[in-house]
Amino acid sequence: MRKPFIAGNWKMNTDGHSGPALVKAVGQGLTQFDMSKVNVAVIPPFVYLAQIVAAARASRIAVGAQDIYYEQKGAFTGEISAYMIKDVGCNYCLCGHSERRHVIGEQDELINKKVHAAINGGLLPILCVGELLEEREAGKTEEVVERQVKKGFEGLIAAKAAAVTLAYEPVWAIGTGRTATPAQAQEVHAMLRKLLAELYDKSFADDIRIQYGGSVKPDNAAELMQKEDIDGLLVGGASLKADDFLAIIKASIGD
Ligand code: PGA
Repeated sequence: MRKPFIAGNWKMNTDGHSGPALVKAVGQGLTQFDMSKVNVAVIPPFVYLAQIVAAARASRIAVGAQDIYYEQKGAFTGEISAYMIKDVGCNYCLCGHSERRHVIGEQDELINKKVHAAINGGLLPILCVGELLEEREAGKTEEVVERQVKKGFEGLIAAKAAAVTLAYEPVWAIGTGRTATPAQAQEVHAMLRKLLAELYDKSFADDIRIQYGGSVKPDNAAELMQKEDIDGLLVGGASLKADDFLAIIKASIGD
């Protein structure tokens, strides 16, 4: 049984006032729910991580970083290591979010190094994959996400790979208000789980959580989560409003 995992990716939003207020409001709202049924994380900008970890302390909300660099320390100006993210009290980090891939230009090889570094540094990576609109329209969705998954997991034995949460985020659905239909998402999720069974084995594939992301809102969360292979949600815009994020969590656990 895979426990639902709902994560809020704040992207380059919030500040020193609104971030702690948001996480406190979510924490307060979560006291109404049975938290043994769900994992919840927020993923704020780097500079606020320590503050958000402190603000989330009384709640069951985990905190993650939006990225890491793969070296542990040294002359890498502007970069942040897994060690540092762990040191400020985070558990998770995103690797290969589509905005890192397509705005910043990160490639599969770099993302794979980050996944290794995250796990070796004691973090739980959320590896994001997903096709562009033109790739979907050209019938290349499977080919693209298969490549991203194979490269993302390259060199990881099952015991380490088990730390990964996979997130399927079709790029055309991110921030556009255009969600993949639950059936479209389920089709890709089932394909990803089959691929992971081939790369590792069936029990690995049965255990790994695969989140869907891309314009998740309170009114589509339940329908998405009802699909067999959708085990969680990676929420961008709607995670910036406590009420919306809470409604999504509620819909996900069916309370
Ligand atoms: P969105 O972002 O929910 O605003 O579409 C999702 C994401 O990029 O993780």
